[in-house]
Amino acid sequence: MFDRNLPYNDLPLLPPEAELETKATLKQAIVASRAVADLRGKAGLIPNQRMMIDSIVLQEARMSSEIENIVTTNDELYRAAADMDGLFDSHTKEVLRYRQAIWYGYEQIQKRPLSVNLFVEIVRIIKQINMDVRKTTGTKLSGPNGETVYTPPEGDPILREKLSNLEQFIYAQEDIDPLIKLAVMHYQFEAIHPFSDGNGRTGRILNILFLVEQGLLDMPVLFLSHYILENKNDYYDGLRRVTEEGQWEQWILYILKGIEITAKETSAQIDAILGLMDVVKNVIREKAEKIYSKELLEMIFMHPYCKIKFLEQGGIAKRQTASTYLQTLAEIGVLRSEKIGRENYYINDALLHILMSR
Ligand SMILES: Nc1ncnc2c1ncn2[C@@H]1O[C@H](COP(=O)(O)OP(=O)(O)O)[C@@H](O)[C@H]1O
Ligand SMILES: [Mg+2]
Repeated sequence: MFDRNLPYNDLPLLPPEAELETKATLKQAIVASRAVADLRGKAGLIPNQRMMIDSIVLQEARMSSEIENIVTTNDELYRAAADMDGLFDSHTKEVLRYRQAIWYGYEQIQKRPLSVNLFVEIVRIIKQINMDVRKTTGTKLSGPNGETVYTPPEGDPILREKLSNLEQFIYAQEDIDPLIKLAVMHYQFEAIHPFSDGNGRTGRILNILFLVEQGLLDMPVLFLSHYILENKNDYYDGLRRVTEEGQWEQWILYILKGIEITAKETSAQIDAILGLMDVVKNVIREKAEKIYSKELLEMIFMHPYCKIKFLEQGGIAKRQTASTYLQTLAEIGVLRSEKIGRENYYINDALLHILMSR
């Protein structure tokens, strides 16, 4: 029998015995896949994709960390993102490292498959310490009242065995719908809980890397943390009930629903951003025709907290002219200028509003 207080060394290997592709899960998988395909097309319309998507990645970094009670404000976060060497609190820095880990993983999967080594590299970036698969005993997951809800397996050989089984499952079993596979993979990673900390965040990064790896998306734009935050009890309950009751269907439906909702919300968000770019473009052309360029427009959408330095670095203008440009954009109401410390920021409030609107 499963005992919450004892290391769950009997965690079954994959694939699970239960039927994963039920009528209900297959139906939801179709709806979710369609939403993901639409999102993939939408994301393809974004100019300067990598830089622009960085803002969406940053929101994910904030929310995935928030699930783990690592909390920062948007203002602090965007300033920190604009000024990497500034002094910011440890939570903000941890959130920035999460973003860095996503991009690192994204680059890596262009060259190599998802593997345990990559998981370790990712958690090291997030935690910034030389972590490895747990060798010590005593890792436990506690509930809101401090009670133990789950004790993951222990012992290096056992963890390694379960991790390599997970690795194989990702690439074998091609008959399973990839979104259903993602749900299984996420449960299993969290149940193995290979690290002493950072498992939630690393597991959520694996989800997006898997979607890209499978060719369902080209860029990392689909992140479940917002959905999980809003349905946090179901997330914990879902994980727990797979372990305790073999309740796979409910868990898979939870994840598939999350994928559908998130894909639709993100598509709408991208629409809103592209629409705003168009509006802003027209405003600049009408009120400050002389300074308009496509590069300048894109720059203030790549950096919601823009600085003179970014224009210089982007080769748009030399310091004095760059300063005039941003000042002009503030005067015509496109940006809001704010001096914080010694730094002048030109803030794209309308963009931030869209980024935070979900
Ligand atoms: N009952 C459970 N069984 C398996 N995994 C769980 C359970 N409850 C929570 N989790 C997972 O554990 C994560 C927290 O683990 P932790 O290592 O502290 O992650 P992080 O450091 O990113 O905070 C949660 O986000 C969730 O994914
Ligand atoms: Mg933690």
